[in-house]
Amino acid sequence: MTANLEPTPATDPHSAGAAIGVEGAVRDVVVVDGLTKTFPGPPSVTALHPCRFTIRAGEYVAITGASGSGKTTLLSLLGLLDTPTGGSYLLDGVDVADLDDTTRSALRARRIGFVFQAFHLVGYRTVIDNIALGLLYQGTPTRERRVRARAAADQVGLGHRRHARCSTLSGGEKQRVAIARTLVRNPSLVLCDEPTGNLDTATTRQILNLLDQLHHTGLTIVVITHDPTIAAAAQRHLTITDGHLTEIRREHATTP
Ligand SMILES: Nc1ncnc2c1ncn2[C@@H]1O[C@H](COP(=O)(O)OP(=O)(O)OP(=O)(O)O)[C@@H](O)[C@H]1O
Ligand SMILES: [Mg+2]
Repeated sequence: MTANLEPTPATDPHSAGAAIGVEGAVRDVVVVDGLTKTFPGPPSVTALHPCRFTIRAGEYVAITGASGSGKTTLLSLLGLLDTPTGGSYLLDGVDVADLDDTTRSALRARRIGFVFQAFHLVGYRTVIDNIALGLLYQGTPTRERRVRARAAADQVGLGHRRHARCSTLSGGEKQRVAIARTLVRNPSLVLCDEPTGNLDTATTRQILNLLDQLHHTGLTIVVITHDPTIAAAAQRHLTITDGHLTEIRREHATTP
């Protein structure tokens, strides 16, 4: 099946107008209906029961839940790292159900950024090199890769450390590099799985501030976390209990 993998026009995710499509409507980045995942086992485990939700461009969503509740399972489905056993998923308007592996990988590379608890950096290479690696498989010319990597380093507050080897950085700085490596690709959706799980309280606060700043530039962010502070910082809060997803409504919530 062929799919249009190009970003929707006039929706640069780094512009303040990212949530507004060409006709002025708010763009849906994620539309999930009946999405479910059962691992065959034995014994079989339904890690995610059928769920239905939408994430609009520019939203910042936290997903909480106890260990084993299904958070990473959901993130893997949203990130096209795994396939559901039921339901539908539209990513930026593309129905991912029937994509072949190559198209699926291309869609993932172009549209999705991942930030994990482990930073997955190349320690002996510099900050700039690690950030530029985010563009390696996109066919971006070397010079442009470095220009964009430098801008992303500035964006996460690491411009002054751009020539440092990653092995010499603090945990918080390493996570900033990992975030910049994701940002440099202009993803439609940034998926974070326990991004502050390895960080102390003060550094967690700094990373949360960074995510908040990025949200205010129009980035669409989903953070999976055990941490109630992260959930409180996000614009929306979903929670999973034994594979059942529900939205926690807030009185001041701006989203329906
Ligand atoms: N590949 C798999 N095969 C079988 N069962 C799996 C597989 N992956 C996950 N599970 C099961 O699905 C359930 C949800 O797992 P998941 O990793 O999504 O939980 P989680 O909420 O991310 O937990 P944690 O907070 O500990 O990371 C668990 O019961 C887990 O054992
Ligand atoms: Mg997990």
